[in-house]
Amino acid sequence: MKESDNIYPIFDRIMTRRDKEELLKQRGVMIWFTGLSGSGKSTVAIALERELHKRGLLCRVLDGDNIRTGINNNLGFSEADRVENIRRIAEVAKLFIDTGIITIAAFISPSAKIRKMAADIIGTDDFLEIFVSTPLEECERRDVKGLYARARRGEISNFTGISAPFEAPEHPALTLDTSKLSVEESVRLLLELVLPKVGRGV
Ligand code: ADX
Repeated sequence: MKESDNIYPIFDRIMTRRDKEELLKQRGVMIWFTGLSGSGKSTVAIALERELHKRGLLCRVLDGDNIRTGINNNLGFSEADRVENIRRIAEVAKLFIDTGIITIAAFISPSAKIRKMAADIIGTDDFLEIFVSTPLEECERRDVKGLYARARRGEISNFTGISAPFEAPEHPALTLDTSKLSVEESVRLLLELVLPKVGRGV
């Protein structure tokens, strides 16, 4: 008896992404925010989720609060750890997108290389890159978590924008400067971009 004789074919077809998208009456897409700490990524991501949800669309926000305290709680901010952080996030996001869910990620994702890795894992057709371009001076003025002050005092090393680099994306689908736009204005621009992609008119 050959080993292959022990493999039984699965007769029922595994439910596909399309089946799930039909069930949900939406298309799964990745909305990937990139920008400095304090630039407004999570705030805009959460406000966008609320507006999409109101329209009957199922979303999932991934941000530091649910990722760096959970699946990635063993990672720091070295270059290698940031790559691993984003790699795992992209793999998790792919599972959501394959379930037809509109997936919204808000991570600094500071280099073109890191963002390309995420887009390659997820699939570039499903990947919408949103640059939250709020200038460093404004992020530092806000200093919501007090981390910029600590980084300036040298208490935090490798801090993005202070002692670690941030590369602006070259061709984002949308750029949002939250020092100039209100949250509502940013969300309106995002809805114009996203609704047609998920199968809804504006
Ligand atoms: S990323 O570079 O790996 O994409 P991520 O978005 O997950 O970063 O986490 C950034 C958040 O971690 C910041 O908003 C800040 O609250 C916190 N943080 C702590 N240390 C650092 C650091 N050295 N550089 C940047 N952010 C840091």
